[in-house]
Amino acid sequence: MRGSNLRESFLRFFADKGHTIVPSSPLVPYNDPTLLFTNAGMVQFKDVFLGLDRRPYTRAATAQKCVRAGGKHNDLDTVGRTARHHTFFEMLGNFSFGDYFKKEAIEFAWEFLTRVLELPKERLWVTIFKDDEEAFELWQEIADLPPERIVRMGEKDNFWAMGDTGPCGPCSEIIYDRGPEYACASQTCALGVCDCDRWLEIWNLVFMQYNRDADGNLTPLPRPSIDTGMGLERMASILQGVDSNFETDLLWPLITAVEKITGRRYDRGEGGFPFRVIADHARSCTFIIADGVLPGNEGRSYVLRRILRRASRLGMALGLDGPFLYRLVPVVAEIMGEAYPEVVEKEEEIAKIIRQEEERFHSTLHEGMRVLNGILDRAAREGRKIITGQEAFILYDTYGFPLDLTEEIATERGLEVDREGFAQAMETQRERARAAREEGKAYEFAMALASALGETAQSLFTGYERLEEEAKVLALVQEGQRVEALEEGTQGYVLVDRTPFYPEGGGQVGDQGQILWAEGEALVQDTRRLPDGRILHEVEIKKGTLTAGTRVKLAVDRERRRSIARNHTATHLLHRALKDVLGEHAAQAGSLVAPDRLRFDFTHFAPLTVEELKAVEARVNEQILANLPVSTLETSLSHAKAMGAIALFGEKYGERVRVVKIGNYSLELCGGTHVATTSEIGLFRLTSESGIGSGLRRIEAVTGWAALEVTTRERAELEEAASLLKVPPGEIVHRLETLLGQLKEMEREISSLRHRLASYEVEKLLAQVKEVAGIRVLPAKVQVANAEALREMADLLRDKLGSGVVILGSASDGRVNFVAMASKDVVAKGIHAGNLLREVARIAAGGGGGRPDMAQAGGKDPAKLDQALAYTLQVVAEQLRASGGERGR
Ligand code: ALA
Repeated sequence: MRGSNLRESFLRFFADKGHTIVPSSPLVPYNDPTLLFTNAGMVQFKDVFLGLDRRPYTRAATAQKCVRAGGKHNDLDTVGRTARHHTFFEMLGNFSFGDYFKKEAIEFAWEFLTRVLELPKERLWVTIFKDDEEAFELWQEIADLPPERIVRMGEKDNFWAMGDTGPCGPCSEIIYDRGPEYACASQTCALGVCDCDRWLEIWNLVFMQYNRDADGNLTPLPRPSIDTGMGLERMASILQGVDSNFETDLLWPLITAVEKITGRRYDRGEGGFPFRVIADHARSCTFIIADGVLPGNEGRSYVLRRILRRASRLGMALGLDGPFLYRLVPVVAEIMGEAYPEVVEKEEEIAKIIRQEEERFHSTLHEGMRVLNGILDRAAREGRKIITGQEAFILYDTYGFPLDLTEEIATERGLEVDREGFAQAMETQRERARAAREEGKAYEFAMALASALGETAQSLFTGYERLEEEAKVLALVQEGQRVEALEEGTQGYVLVDRTPFYPEGGGQVGDQGQILWAEGEALVQDTRRLPDGRILHEVEIKKGTLTAGTRVKLAVDRERRRSIARNHTATHLLHRALKDVLGEHAAQAGSLVAPDRLRFDFTHFAPLTVEELKAVEARVNEQILANLPVSTLETSLSHAKAMGAIALFGEKYGERVRVVKIGNYSLELCGGTHVATTSEIGLFRLTSESGIGSGLRRIEAVTGWAALEVTTRERAELEEAASLLKVPPGEIVHRLETLLGQLKEMEREISSLRHRLASYEVEKLLAQVKEVAGIRVLPAKVQVANAEALREMADLLRDKLGSGVVILGSASDGRVNFVAMASKDVVAKGIHAGNLLREVARIAAGGGGGRPDMAQAGGKDPAKLDQALAYTLQVVAEQLRASGGERGR
C-alpha cells in the first residue's frame, strides 16, 4: 500500500463514521505564538477544544503536516539515528469535540487497524495512563487484549500535552511489535522499558480533558474530547514490509537522489546516517519555506536555518563542496505534491531560497576569516590595540566565530578583545529576542481577557456599513476581572452586542472613537478581537459611570478610519503593483495599516532599483487616478481561489471568505475596511525601501493627507535651497553643477598652494638642521592637515637634506603624529628610524615604530611635543655610540 493510499483510506474510513475531512493547516500556527510549528493534528483545533471557537461539526479527521524541531516536541537530534523519527512528518488523526469519547475512539482505532489494514492482532500492544481503569477495561472488552499486553505508564509517556500550556489529557498508545529480531542488544528489552526500533508506537489516542495554564494548573475542558494521531510514515513502513520509514515510498526517492548526487551508496547502518538526515531535512525545509518562513536568526527562521545548515554540513561529510540540498526540492514536490500542492506551486522559489542559504553557509566560513583579517588590519592602521566588542560580536553572530577563536587569532597579532563590550552587544541581542516574545504575551493577554469575560453573547460587527451604532453593554472587564461598572477616570474593556469599531486584524490597526450614554462618555483607545471572535473596546471613562446593561451610542472616529481605509486599499494596490513589476514571487509577508502610514513586507531577493521603485509608485498612482470602484463579496474559499484571489500565508480562513476587489486590477482575501473608489486615496508616495532579513524587503508609504504633507515638505525644502542659492527653484540643479565645478577648481588651487607653502616651509626648516657626530639631524614641529601631509613633508626634507635624519611632529585634536626618516648612508652608520621614533614618541605618551629608514608613531600628549623632539639629538647620539661600540668590539 502506497503512502498516499494509506492517507486516503484513513480519511475515507473516518468520513464513513460521520467525520468531516478538514485540510491540513499551515506549519506556522495561526495566531498562536506559544508554538513554533504545528506539531500535531490537534493544533488547528486548539481553540475548539478550549471552547473558544465553534465549528459546524463535532467530528473531524485530518492528514496534517507536522514539524517537531523545537519546543516541547523536538526530534531534531534523534533524526537519522532511529528508523522512525523525523523533523517533518504527517499525522493522520480523528477528533471528537465533545461528541464521542474513550469507547468509540478505541473501537474506531481497533477496527481500522485490524479490519481495514488487516494488521495481525497478536502484533498489537497498548499502553495506558497508570490508573486509567476505564481504558484498561475497554481495551480488554473491545480488542480482547490479554492484560499483559496492556502496559501502564506514567505521566511522561501517557499524558499528552501540545506544549507547556494548552489542552492536554491522559492517552493510550497502540504499539506494533516488529518482532524479537528487531530487539536491541539489551537483556531487558521490553515495551515500556526500551526505546529501540522493536516497539513501534503507531497511534496515540488522547483523551482530552484539561487545559493547562502558564502556572501549570489544570482546569477541566468544557467537554471531554478526543484527539488522535497516527504516524503516516511509520504505518507505511509496516504495510510496505520495510524496516525503516526511510525505505517507504514517502522517503526512499530522496535517499536514492542523494546517492545520485554524491555518487555514494546508502547503507542501512551508521554509514547511512547523513543520507537519512538529509532526506528528512529536505522535506522539513521544503515544507517550512512553502508555508512562508525564511532562514534567519530568530524563532522559526532560526530553526529553519539550523536544519538547513545541518543538512548542508552533512553534505560536506558526503564529499559535496557546495549547494546541493536545493536539488532535492523537486523530489519532495514529486512525492508530496498531490496531497500538498503548495510545494509544487512554489517549487522554484523554495529551491532558490534553499540554494541561497546554502551558498551563504559555505561562504560564511571563508567570509568570517576575511572579515576578521579586515578588522585586524584596520585596528593596526588606526593604532588600536583592541578589537571592539561590537566587532567580536559581529564575528560571533554573523559568522559563527566563537569569542575564543577571535581572541586567539587577535593575540597572534598583538591585539586584545574587549570582552565587556562583547557581553554588552550580546545583551542588546537578547533585548531584541525579548521583544519578539512580547508578541506571545499579547496572545496570553487576550486569552486572559476571554476567560475573565466568561460566557456572554457574541458581538456583531457592523462596521463595514456603519460608523455609528446603538448597542447594549454586555460585560465590562477591569484589571483582569469582570466588573459591573467602570468608574469615571478609570480604564477598562467594554463588550457590546453590536459595534461598528473595527478590531485590529489583518495588519489594520483597531478603531478609535467614542462611547456615549445618558450622563457619560468614554474614549475608545483601541479595539481588539479575542480568539473566540468577541470584540473588546479598550476605553478610558471621561465622564460618568458605565454599568453593564446600559444602552450606549458608539461612534468611530471618522477621519481616522478614512485615513486607515486609504492606506489599506493602497496596500492592496501596492501588493499587485509589486507582483507586476518584480514578478509573482513578491508576496506579502506582513503589513501594518495605520492612519498615518502603511508598511508592507514582502519576499524578494534584491534591493529595488530606482527604476523599479518609480514603476511601482507610478502603477499605484495610475490605479488611483483611474478611479476604480472597490467592492467586496462573500464566497467560499475554493471559489475565491478559483477566481484568482490572493490569499496570504499563515492566515486562517474559514469556509466563507471575504474578497476585496479593486476594479479589474486587484483581488484579495481581506477582512479590512476600504475606500469606495480608489480616487479617495488621493496620492501615493513611497517613503522608504529596505531589507529586513534574507529574501525579505520592507516598503513604507503614505497616502492622502500624509502624502500631500510629504510633497509640501519637499517643496519647502526646495524653496529653501533655492533661496540659499539665490536662484528660482527651477534652476537649482544648474546652479549646483556650476558651484560643484567651482568647488573642484578651488580644491585644486588650495592643493597647489599648500604645496608651495610646504616647500617654503621646508626651506625655513632646513635652516634649523643640527649636527650630531657629523650627521645632519632635523627635528621639527610642523602644522599639517593629516598624517599623509606629514609624510610628504618628511620625504621632501630628506630629499633636500640628501644625507641625514628627519623627524617631524605635528599636534592636532589632542593627539600627536610623528614621522621619522633616515637616508641610506646614515642607516649604514647605525641609525634606526623605527627605534629612534619609539623612544621619542614615548615622551609624548605614545608608541609606534617601523623600519630603519622610515617610521610612524602617535602620541596622546601634545604638550610634550617640544620636549620629545628635543630628545632626538640625544637618541641619535646614543645610537651612533652603540653601533660604534659594537663595531669596536
Ligand atoms: N496529539 C497527539 C500526539 O501528537 C495525538 O501524539
